[in-house]
Amino acid sequence: MVLAGRDLAKSYGGVRALAGVDVAFRAGAVHALLGENGAGKSTLVKILAGAVPPDRGELLLGGSAVRFGSTAEAARQRVAIVSQELNLFPDQDVLANVFAHRLPRKGPLVDRAAMRALAAPVLAELGLRAPPDTLLESLSLGDRQLVEIARALVEQPRVLILDEPTSALQPGEVARLHEIIGRLRDRGTAVVYVSHVLEDVLAICDEVTVLRDGAVVLSGADAAELDLPALVTAMLGERAPASLRAAGATAAAGPFTGDSAGGLRLVSVSVPGRLRDVSLEAAPGEILGVAGLVGSGHTDVLRVIAGALTPQSGRVELPGDGKRAANRTGMRAAVRAGVGLISGDRRGVGITADKPVWENIVQVSAVSLGRLGRWLTQRALREAAEVLARRVGVRTHSMDQAVDQLSGGNQQKVVFAKWLAARPSVLLMDDPTRGIDIGAKAEIYALMGELAAAGTVQLLASSDPKELAGICHRVIVIRKGQVTAVLEGAELSAHAVLEAVNGDRGAPAL
Ligand SMILES: Nc1ncnc2c1ncn2[C@@H]1O[C@H](COP(=O)(O)OP(=O)(O)OP(=O)(O)O)[C@@H](O)[C@H]1O
Ligand SMILES: [Mg+2]
Repeated sequence: MVLAGRDLAKSYGGVRALAGVDVAFRAGAVHALLGENGAGKSTLVKILAGAVPPDRGELLLGGSAVRFGSTAEAARQRVAIVSQELNLFPDQDVLANVFAHRLPRKGPLVDRAAMRALAAPVLAELGLRAPPDTLLESLSLGDRQLVEIARALVEQPRVLILDEPTSALQPGEVARLHEIIGRLRDRGTAVVYVSHVLEDVLAICDEVTVLRDGAVVLSGADAAELDLPALVTAMLGERAPASLRAAGATAAAGPFTGDSAGGLRLVSVSVPGRLRDVSLEAAPGEILGVAGLVGSGHTDVLRVIAGALTPQSGRVELPGDGKRAANRTGMRAAVRAGVGLISGDRRGVGITADKPVWENIVQVSAVSLGRLGRWLTQRALREAAEVLARRVGVRTHSMDQAVDQLSGGNQQKVVFAKWLAARPSVLLMDDPTRGIDIGAKAEIYALMGELAAAGTVQLLASSDPKELAGICHRVIVIRKGQVTAVLEGAELSAHAVLEAVNGDRGAPAL
């Protein structure tokens, strides 16, 4: 065993995150670490990589006890981690981020030439197109994720820990990362792979460990002998059957039959360099998918409606006071006009990380209630927040916990609860189920169904063609800033979406 943990335990305040866990990883194998949101996966890998000290238990590296005081110290022993909530420096460039653990020096100076030479093959292998001196903050979430992976790879790790490394990547990038993982395995690296994409796990992993409530319920099982239902059952325990049924219930919503009057309309919207002449309509109660590759402009459609991008020409008509809303500018005005935005990049726009869960949930609704908000007591707001948290299944010790102390998937559920509280008439969602486990995903799809029944207009931009085909009434496809196809009814399938977003490039395998 190259790396093992014995009896690892960790509590945060009164919350027990890990309850005495034994794990072992061997060289030349890809080991999946699975479990529901909040099961303790990130806590375990943070302990393995020196980011968090355990309360109890020990680590063995190559058979001898070790203690890592920091991730930099673990990296020097060639145990590297790609963490779930990326640890990057937005105001520095790609190269500085890749070498954040150890800047190569030439005398007193940082050796940029050496950095470039070391990083170039790694960045090329990962397929990062941005030049190495690009500021990190100007990269997409997916590219930032690639930078974090590059930082781990330049250490030439013997243990590489990946905590949900593909959650912001496009299908092509995911495939490339999986190839790299395969090559590392062949060279004898021990890879620890945390993911909610169970199909990927079955495709690339050799061994599987499952955590439930901070304890191991399946230990190093042979992946070849497991299938999807077996994984779900191990993860969810007795809750499995219902959740699995719900997760499978993503059969297409079917053509939309409601009336499009009083819905959302975009009329010939153009934004130079981004969108050209985009028109669309979405009716109250409709779930409209917006498909596209990174950079195609599909998320810009959402940003225009959210007031984050101002069209040069054309107009946006919102439900209700459409005309008046057309003159609004800025995101605040959009929120007041009843537009909500849920993004997979929760750190960027979704949450205020150091504020308690309850404040995050009622944040928008208290604002949109305006004067009335002042009369609402804190107690009433907390109670409202608690009801919503329960509805979306946020797992938290208390409503007073700061959001950044929740597990990644639970942070994303807080963003959902926030927008449920605000009762938007238009809900925009950009990869909203990023990092959410299979059971909770089913719950979120069910919530989207409830919102549809209540007449909310929903736009869903997603990198997952199966998700788009599964839950949308219609999907519009954006390529090079233009609407190139509208898929519905029998024409709407995951394969058709994939083909349409790729256009003449042809579709990669699903
Ligand atoms: N810094 C912290 N302070 C308080 N509690 C924490 C902290 N970090 C994690 N926890 C708690 O520990 C438990 C395990 O969280 P962890 O992040 O390990 O889950 P996870 O399995 O990675 O979930 P996900 O799939 O959502 O990423 C959760 O209940 C979480 O709220
Ligand atoms: Mg996690």
